[in-house]
Amino acid sequence: MSDSPAPARDFRFPEGFLWGAATAAHQIEGSPLADGAGPSIWTRFAHTPGMTLNGDTGDVACDHYKRWKDDVRLMRELGLKAYRFSVSWSRIHPEGTGRVNPKGLDFYSRLVDELLENDIEPLLTLFHWDLPAALDDRGGWLNRDCADWFAEYGTTLYRALDGRVKKWATINEPWVVTDGGYLHGALAPGHRSRYEAPIAAHNLMRAHGAAVQAYRAEGAHEIGLVVNIEPKYPASDSDADAAAVRRAHAYMNEQFLHPALLGRYPPELKDIFGDAWPEWPAEDFALIRQPLDFVGINYYTRSVTAAGDSYPQRTAVVRQPLGTYTETGWEVFPQGLTDLLLWFKDTYGDLPVYITENGAAFFDPPVAEGGRVRDPLRTDYLRKHLSAIHDAIAAGVDVRGYMAWSLLDNLEWSLGYSKRFGIVHVNYGTQERTPKDSARWYSKVIASNGRTLSDPLPY
Ligand code: BGC
Repeated sequence: MSDSPAPARDFRFPEGFLWGAATAAHQIEGSPLADGAGPSIWTRFAHTPGMTLNGDTGDVACDHYKRWKDDVRLMRELGLKAYRFSVSWSRIHPEGTGRVNPKGLDFYSRLVDELLENDIEPLLTLFHWDLPAALDDRGGWLNRDCADWFAEYGTTLYRALDGRVKKWATINEPWVVTDGGYLHGALAPGHRSRYEAPIAAHNLMRAHGAAVQAYRAEGAHEIGLVVNIEPKYPASDSDADAAAVRRAHAYMNEQFLHPALLGRYPPELKDIFGDAWPEWPAEDFALIRQPLDFVGINYYTRSVTAAGDSYPQRTAVVRQPLGTYTETGWEVFPQGLTDLLLWFKDTYGDLPVYITENGAAFFDPPVAEGGRVRDPLRTDYLRKHLSAIHDAIAAGVDVRGYMAWSLLDNLEWSLGYSKRFGIVHVNYGTQERTPKDSARWYSKVIASNGRTLSDPLPY
């Protein structure tokens, strides 16, 4: 028997694993109406008094619309292999459909060229919440025509960029769009209706299907859907809590993946929405269920779930006394990511997965002299979640890449600039970018394809 310590775990990731970071148009670009763009629902929402914290808007954000070249240089310096971003629909079609705005298209075309010149693979999301206001005026996601509108917009981009962009995502987090935008109203367009939410959700999925169909006619690479998944664990072994977990899981996780991948809704949704749950035309499911090349999963937290009075799913999230919580009040629970990846494979089969968002808002100290931002909690968060992904890969889940959320501190929707998720600090007064310690650490992980995950953290 030898006393030598166990060998450090080998954290190398599969060859070609795509290491990157993510952003979204409205959260970083600023200049929302520049060069002929039309307004989006987020520009309207943020300019309505009382809708966002401190009245914060995306008018300037990280000024990425003007600083994109410098931002790509920064990505290159960090050694990112991939960059996930979204396109602002109303820059491309200012009225949502019809007329194309060449200057808007050109912005993204130049961004993609710059990324490619720097050996950074673009992952393009068509819709990350900033619906053209002109389409909201026509009912937005409540109008069944939205499937055609979205396919038309997708086609404009596929024709302009496919080949240079090889990984496309249709919709980012349909659950948040409907729960925040149509049920509880904290996000644009700010509706509060149990009757609208299932209709908006269903139409989002029809739009997703139509955009994938259009892609098969125009594009030759990969397209998928991005969902946010939150594993639900029972707070006790009571029957009531087990039923609550079923409802919470169906409402948040299966509501979108089931129709997209299995062509049906989970039965719990009828119980959750009651008389607001319509009979759906059977042919809709043929449109929604399109073969996908991958699914993008955004993971932030889990919830320990009990029966309760949340609306409409009648559950409660039980705070964990020994848990660590982020600035957005989300429990840090890396094991949940392994669990959900295993659940995904068991339920939907061997579809490739990208982790398209994962990260945390923590309180960051100000930039210290010499340009350092010490954010050990974020580094620890990223490290533990990467290790959880490594576990899932070892168990046979086909995870192909990881996009840290977010490249930059940015506009956290209705919470304005109050929460910082970036691995790069942004000074909103000067727009100076400063890579935090987590970014420097992540660079090393990327350069070693994960091997340095087993190194002790430098604090
Ligand atoms: C969204 C991001 C958001 C992040 C943190 C995700 O739900 O896709 O836009 O900033 O979570 O809240």
